[in-house]
Amino acid sequence: MVDATGQRRADVAVADGAVVAVEPELEPSSDAVVLDAARCVVAPGLVDLHTHLREPGREEAERIESGARAAALGGYTAVLAMPNTEPAIDSVAVVRQVLDLGASAVTDVAVAGAITVGREGERLAPLAEMAALGVRLFTDDGSGVQDARLMRRALEYASVLDVVLAQHCEEARLAAGGQMHEGEWSSRLGVPGIPAEAEELMVHRDISLSRLTGARVHLLHLSTAGSVALVEAAKTEGLAVTAEAAPHHLCLTDAEVAGYDTAFKVNPPLRGTADVAAVRAGLASGAIDAIATDHAPHAQEAKEAPFDQAPPGMIGLETALAVSMTELADQLPIAAILALLSWRPAQIAGLSAEHGGPVAPGASANLCVIDPSATWVVDPARSASRSRNTPFTGRRLTGRARHTVYRGEPVVVDGEAQR
Ligand code: DOR
Repeated sequence: MVDATGQRRADVAVADGAVVAVEPELEPSSDAVVLDAARCVVAPGLVDLHTHLREPGREEAERIESGARAAALGGYTAVLAMPNTEPAIDSVAVVRQVLDLGASAVTDVAVAGAITVGREGERLAPLAEMAALGVRLFTDDGSGVQDARLMRRALEYASVLDVVLAQHCEEARLAAGGQMHEGEWSSRLGVPGIPAEAEELMVHRDISLSRLTGARVHLLHLSTAGSVALVEAAKTEGLAVTAEAAPHHLCLTDAEVAGYDTAFKVNPPLRGTADVAAVRAGLASGAIDAIATDHAPHAQEAKEAPFDQAPPGMIGLETALAVSMTELADQLPIAAILALLSWRPAQIAGLSAEHGGPVAPGASANLCVIDPSATWVVDPARSASRSRNTPFTGRRLTGRARHTVYRGEPVVVDGEAQR
């Protein structure tokens, strides 16, 4: 067993949705369902801070039900649904709709509300009303709030409400028209670029606004060396800033775009080798608090468009754990990788009461059982997502979620979804 309190060898007994015993040896009762965890790691379920579930409005790409199933298969017991749906999650009615749909899913579906009405960056959405329904994090993800004054007001409001504002850091005018990272590859390929500075300007601005207002800011999917350095400095200063990175940004570079394969189109874009190294170093040093999937499903027809017309985004729920374990195993012990995937994101999203906590009697039985030595090859056709847009097709990965237990129910057993 591995959790925030350390590692030990134990059996875990679960009843009525809760952990009831953790002992070196437990004798199962005759009617118990027994899940084999030999040579495996039992951990709190993973928590994804950044999941695009597409419902309402883009059900051809994903549904809450299918996305949650993909999440459970990846070892997650909670996901945070991003608000760039159609309509956006910017009102009590849409928050309720997503929560209702999530209630029958195989993971907890928490909701991120939009900061501005329609994510248009002009008027504040009713943050207090959404917070009253339990929304703890707000973002206009898909785009950043461009107006610094509006962002300042939102932060002042957020600190009164004790909620987190999360930013998609991108200065829209500087990024305008860009389709990939601006650098040697974009010049060679003749594809308009998005400079690292488009991200870093907004990271810098929001760190400044956090200092000005004292409010909590969470920086989404950071991708550049400059962003990591800025967050590191903000943390040294003691500011209330947290950050995440996506699995693809810790292992793929802009060189992947050479074949114009839209599976490698994402926003923020895949960056250069020095940026990838900095993201990895930031995960190891604690500058970056969490690995978040940015699971962004898109229908095949959309991704079959020419590179400049295809939408950005990659699915990631079923591969995030394995990519993280495969890529970071030399650098980080499994407990540190799980901290990035489970208990730190649970804290940031305000989900710690139910997720990511130590596996101990009385805790909610939201657990995953990981086989660290299982090797497998990514096959998009096997994904539970409604979309297939993974950049990892054909990759051999090491590490896999074997079982997932959600509120005491085994929803994934031996890698198979149970419902
Ligand atoms: O690549 C991306 N896709 N980045 C985003 O910020 C939004 C996302 C989406 O919703 O497709």
